[in-house]
Amino acid sequence: MAIQWYPGHMAKAKREVTEQLKKVDVVFELVDARIPYSSRNPMIDDVIQQKPRVVILAKKDMANLKELEKWESYFKEQGFYPVEVDAKHGKGLKQVEQAAIEATKEKMAREKEKGLKPRAIRAMIVGIPNVGKSTLINKLAKKSIAQTGNKPGVTKQQQWIKVGNALQLLDTPGILWPKFEDQLIGKKLSLTGAIKDSIVHLDEVAIYGLEFIIEHDYDRLINHYNISVDKEAPILEWFDAIGRRRGLLQKGNEVDYEAVIELIINDIRNAKLGTFTFDLVTEMDV
Ligand code: G4P
Repeated sequence: MAIQWYPGHMAKAKREVTEQLKKVDVVFELVDARIPYSSRNPMIDDVIQQKPRVVILAKKDMANLKELEKWESYFKEQGFYPVEVDAKHGKGLKQVEQAAIEATKEKMAREKEKGLKPRAIRAMIVGIPNVGKSTLINKLAKKSIAQTGNKPGVTKQQQWIKVGNALQLLDTPGILWPKFEDQLIGKKLSLTGAIKDSIVHLDEVAIYGLEFIIEHDYDRLINHYNISVDKEAPILEWFDAIGRRRGLLQKGNEVDYEAVIELIINDIRNAKLGTFTFDLVTEMDV
């Protein structure tokens, strides 16, 4: 489901998440491992402030693992606790619990010194739509709790889910808005399916994705589509070759570019052309 974000919704979402944050010891900021910068809410530091933070790089099965290591270092430098997760296949879940323990160690030690009884760490998940919040909650809970659907902010009736021995997680995530301002970020959000009804033109999304893959994994690309196109060829030649090979043609034997664009975007979204991280630490203005 698509969300329309208006200033009023954003303010409400921020207010609700800020309110929920008071109940937790640690925040799980979920980002898409394919775009660890572009998939962050633009005001996230303002929302979370000094609360201990585990940054969860979600959907790692679709990302470039070498690049993720660099992102982990980057987030560590910021004082956060990064973890890579593939919730779809149940990988990295134990590390989430471990990171939460690590991130709240000092707070728990202080409570112990004061003579307070040991208790479970309380956490909540926040992130933009479609980064995998509900999928992760359901995996951590080991049952289906969170609806995979999107409503800004958080809903009212919430419960704590027990995760392992050390952790309690709010069953509803905080949903925050994505970045809107930057065209390139818009293309990346569309390419990863974070925004489906695009705010950027789909032809530009496909061109951006295709150019990225030509540069980073040319061989896989030509093998996947079984085409022979020069690496330096104009992008239209790629569209033509893919369209003709797949029989995506209109009347008069013309290539149906809309169909080619849809094919390319879907293939990238589903990681059929390889596993990529489109945000590179070295190129980011971070
Ligand atoms: P949200 O709550 O943050 O909005 O996200 P949600 O969990 O609904 O996940 C959005 C999409 O991302 C879903 O796909 C979900 O299956 C997929 N997803 C979540 N985590 C992972 C992961 O670790 N790896 C991969 N590969 N995919 C993941 P969908 O196409 O909307 O639905 P479906 O594929 O489940 O039918």
